Amino acid sequence: MGEEEESALLLSRSKRSSSTFTYCILLLIASMFLLAVYFSSSATAKLHHPVVILISSDGFRFGYQFKAPTPNIRRLIQDGTEAESGLIPVFPTLTFPNHYSIVTGLYPPHHGIVNNVFFDPLTGQQFTMQSHEPKWWLAQPLWETVLLNNLSAATYFWPGSEVHKGPWTCPTAFCQPYNGSVPFQDRVDTVLNYFDLPSHQIPSFITLYFEDPDHQGHRVGPDDSEITQSVARIDAIIGSLIQGLEQRGVFQDVHIIMVGDHGMVGTCDTKLVFLDDLAPWIQIPRDWVQYFTPILSIRPPPSVDPAHVVAKMNEGLNSGKVENGAKLKVYLKEDLPERLHYSDSDRIPPIIGLADEGFKVEQNRTGKKECGGAHGYDNAFFSMRTIFIGHGPRFARGKKIPSFENVQIYNLVTSILDIKGAPNNGSDSFPDSVLLPPA
Ligand SMILES: *[C@@H]1O[C@H](CO)[C@@H](O)[C@H](O)[C@H]1NC(C)=O
Ligand SMILES: *[C@@H]1O[C@H](CO)[C@@H](O)[C@H](O)[C@H]1NC(C)=O
Ligand SMILES: *[C@@H]1O[C@H](CO)[C@@H](O)[C@H](O)[C@H]1NC(C)=O
Ligand SMILES: *[C@@H]1O[C@H](CO)[C@@H](O)[C@H](O)[C@H]1NC(C)=O
Ligand SMILES: [Zn+2]
Repeated sequence: MGEEEESALLLSRSKRSSSTFTYCILLLIASMFLLAVYFSSSATAKLHHPVVILISSDGFRFGYQFKAPTPNIRRLIQDGTEAESGLIPVFPTLTFPNHYSIVTGLYPPHHGIVNNVFFDPLTGQQFTMQSHEPKWWLAQPLWETVLLNNLSAATYFWPGSEVHKGPWTCPTAFCQPYNGSVPFQDRVDTVLNYFDLPSHQIPSFITLYFEDPDHQGHRVGPDDSEITQSVARIDAIIGSLIQGLEQRGVFQDVHIIMVGDHGMVGTCDTKLVFLDDLAPWIQIPRDWVQYFTPILSIRPPPSVDPAHVVAKMNEGLNSGKVENGAKLKVYLKEDLPERLHYSDSDRIPPIIGLADEGFKVEQNRTGKKECGGAHGYDNAFFSMRTIFIGHGPRFARGKKIPSFENVQIYNLVTSILDIKGAPNNGSDSFPDSVLLPPA
């Protein structure tokens, strides 16, 4: 083989391999292009309508976000809009009244869930957190509003979500009966699966609920290291939601609203007020008391004048002779401060006592020694505040807004979804002050 032949062979070989190389590159570019087209079209095609995921982390006191490294919550805050000094719950700062205020925009007397436990004075029937009969749940929650506007909704737990109201029947595929044992990750996975549905079937409004860190807060109080761990776990679960949405190419298109229902304050056995200590002034029998603490709710029998009971109780409490007496103030409900919005319902008994921050009311001395945490107090206490974070196309990045009451959230959601809501106690102008105009 001559030198020329050999070099010709080499040349053709290298020509062949370089053209193979070019082919591969072209193929690669073409497939990358197709993939890019596929993903970008699927990302934009996925969400043909605005979507809101409303997340509640129960008892997430404002400030908990600083207790542990919370990279995922911090990411939502940095790239979204935050209530700079927290979200103000409604009074009483309890779980059921607040969750239902968030989804109805109403103060508790108007949505009917005036406490976690209460009585209907007409029938004598008791409402508990397991009561799903529509008669208790007044007003129009967001999932019903969404359906009335011909959009679809899904709930992964929320007080009231199992109740059949109007077109909402808690359908199996889009509504879960409450079961606190379901792992948080299962809840997130179910919500993420909704984003694998054909575009038009992706619900416009989705709720997601986590019992923590309320659960730990009651047992150990807000300052325990258990809270730190619980907050870190909530952050991780938010991270898995973000990651799942990112994998589906929809994270930047979805609106995430993360809130809590109330805060938490430390309680201890030295901070107790005992009703039996008032006996020298007035005997309060156990069966007059519908709820003890921190919102003492008393309905005496019809033969007893509530005003007399209030006067006698306050006489005792102010006498200086009752342990921690000054830490409980008793009112006829119509005399409560107007800002509490807590009189306009038959379900609220005539006598309401407000315990001071961190104090609890009990019938008598049981000698039980315990420290923990509680909520339900006056919503003016900073310890009762929780968080508000909004993230998504209508929320400005890095924006801080002043604290506001959670009854504003209903209008915020209907504005994002561009639907007509029911009359409520939020202000009509609130959404304009918080949201960016639609793209
Ligand atoms: C929803 O659909 C029904 C039936 O098609 C229609 O009558 C109604 O006007 C629609 N409502 C809204 C708010 O679009
Ligand atoms: C509640 O959830 C747990 C965990 O998923 C499950 O094992 C249990 O069967 C559920 N309980 C009910 C009553 O469905
Ligand atoms: C304390 O109150 C409970 C509940 O009413 C009652 O069962 C108990 O006997 C009372 N104890 C004392 C020492 O009065
Ligand atoms: C709250 O809204 C209800 C229903 O629209 C209304 O009856 C009530 O007067 C409102 N209360 C306040 C304080 O705005
Ligand atoms: Zn709660």
